[in-house]
Amino acid sequence: MSKERLIIFDTTLRDGEQSPGAAMTREEKVRIARQLEKLRVDVIEAGFAAASPGDFAAVQAVAEAIKDSTVCSLARAIESDIEKAGLAIRPAARGRVHTFIATSPIHMKMKLKMEPEQVLEQAVKAVKWARQWTDDVEFSPEDAGRSEIDFLCRVLEAVIKAGATTVNIPDTVGYNIPQGWGEVFKSLRERVPNADKAIWSTHCHNDLGLASANSLAAVLNGARQVECTINGLGERAGNAALEEVVMAIKVRPDLFPVETRIDTTQIVPTSKLVSQITGYVVQPNKAIVGANAFAHESGIHQDGVLKHRETYEIMRAQDVGWQTNKISLGKLSGRNAFKTKLAELGIQLESEEALNAAFARFKELADKKREIYDEDLHAIVSEEMVTPEVEHYRLVSSLFHSETGEAPRASITLAVGGVEKHAEATGSGPVDAALKAIESIVQSGAKQLLYSVNAITTGTDAQGEVTVRLMKDGRIVNGQGADTDIIVASAKAYLNALNKLHAGGERLNPQL
Ligand code: KIV
Ligand code: ZN
Repeated sequence: MSKERLIIFDTTLRDGEQSPGAAMTREEKVRIARQLEKLRVDVIEAGFAAASPGDFAAVQAVAEAIKDSTVCSLARAIESDIEKAGLAIRPAARGRVHTFIATSPIHMKMKLKMEPEQVLEQAVKAVKWARQWTDDVEFSPEDAGRSEIDFLCRVLEAVIKAGATTVNIPDTVGYNIPQGWGEVFKSLRERVPNADKAIWSTHCHNDLGLASANSLAAVLNGARQVECTINGLGERAGNAALEEVVMAIKVRPDLFPVETRIDTTQIVPTSKLVSQITGYVVQPNKAIVGANAFAHESGIHQDGVLKHRETYEIMRAQDVGWQTNKISLGKLSGRNAFKTKLAELGIQLESEEALNAAFARFKELADKKREIYDEDLHAIVSEEMVTPEVEHYRLVSSLFHSETGEAPRASITLAVGGVEKHAEATGSGPVDAALKAIESIVQSGAKQLLYSVNAITTGTDAQGEVTVRLMKDGRIVNGQGADTDIIVASAKAYLNALNKLHAGGERLNPQL
């Protein structure tokens, strides 16, 4: 039986970015978008162009970089938003405008303060405005999961008539359960007279832990696009996880009449990249991409797997990319091999200087560590993405002292705008002392929202990767630093975040 295509719409860069503190810079968005293109997602929702000039620039940069996936911008049902979305996606090989307005009684009355008829009229106008920019227009009735079905039918019929090519039904607050969500799709597709003129899409939030299950129920009832994010990132409890939806469809072809074009071996590398850039660590027992997803602990299970893998495994670890964690370069690799490997990973450094600096960092690491993995390269590049123009603060040297019975001390020298400055501090531990010494030089006054440390690969010679999330004047940034010495990694991560704050840009915390 030939299968219909299920469109995978990835919204990691938009809804995923609405996870508290998961703000990404323009360069980081482009890096993730390139990896999503490698993963072969059909549509990349790159952001919300009208949110700020920085958001506009990020969507535009993704539109310029991506050739094989459609690039989409979200827009409220307001003409100026739609104009910005339309302009931002203009460089894309294929561009989509996704416009939305709420249709639930509670949102219309309490948030929009609009009558249902006004909402319907605005939805139609929005789709018509969007069609002036592109033939590929998606409409979402926000909070459809709590909207009245008769009203939804009227709105959806009207927007399809006005030119919407995809109608996306969001369960904005994750209120539905699979059987009911499937029935919503069945009923909408039966009752909207021009239902066959658009692609039906589902966008589920995970407040009850049902986002993936609800998305699959929608697919069984006619949805042919699923909106999802890597690692299930997203507003509050997140969105349906791309990896869960895609693998359920792949593992159970007996149940689903659809197939995707996703290269599933890119799932784990994409998950790692998103986790590294956003600072959102993946829980070990997370389906598909968690570190334990293919680990067998009990003796009975281990015995079974050794005798016949399928006794306890429904998919192969390498099919989702677990074994792409291979040594990629070593001590003797040259600049060309390094450059080629970065290109293979979809990484483009903006200048020759950045490439040279990254290569020098790689050589330094290879001296200490011998075997360099893809993840190590991503970590090096995360630091070198801070171009010299925006590297206002640079670590020149550091000395840490930690001894039983004594307060840990740090002595730090920084280059601040090219001028060397020195400070010393004590702290509850050497990391605390190092960050205090830096802060006493910089005096940023930024609030620290997160400090997390992770081993990039296995073994005690692994690089520690630190994420520091800072907030200042309403802006949130994530700084990354990696080093085989985790105190140095912490100092680098803190400086990386300070450089991002210093570089400015109009992007505030991207919560709608
Ligand atoms: O959850 C939601 O309703 C959304 C829409 C903008 C599609 O993210
Ligand atoms: Zn959403």
